[in-house]
Amino acid sequence: MISEKNKKELIAVAKRNCEKAYAPYSNFPVGAALLLADDTIIDGINIENVSFGATNCAERTAIFTAITQGYQAGDLKAIAVAGDTEDYLPPCSLCRQVMVEFCDGSMPIILTRRNGDSKTVTLDELVPMAFDSMEI
Ligand code: THU
Repeated sequence: MISEKNKKELIAVAKRNCEKAYAPYSNFPVGAALLLADDTIIDGINIENVSFGATNCAERTAIFTAITQGYQAGDLKAIAVAGDTEDYLPPCSLCRQVMVEFCDGSMPIILTRRNGDSKTVTLDELVPMAFDSMEI
């Protein structure tokens, strides 16, 4: 669960972060905003590369930044994603798998679209049957 106030702020920060995206190859800027348990908000942008495979998505940039700063799996509370898209912009499958590593299945993922609407889904909804363990 996330409060309306937190949700609004995350959406605003994610949208603002689009302006910082480094997306000269796709011209598809994406911004993310990751809410942590202590109410810190971590920025995320897509960072592209001339060798396309080296590109990092906005969601992963935010999550890797949080982990780099010393936050841990249980600290990640919600993430918003924004881009200039007509429909809701969902995280790619690589980002979903990174979320599986660090986020609870109940974590709200706030998808947005150009007209300002938002839709909140959980990680479990985005990744049913997640690969999350190498137990044999
Ligand atoms: N991208 C993201 O940053 N997040 C998403 O949710 C979808 C895709 C980026 C990767 C690449 O820089 C550009 O958008 C086009 O795929």
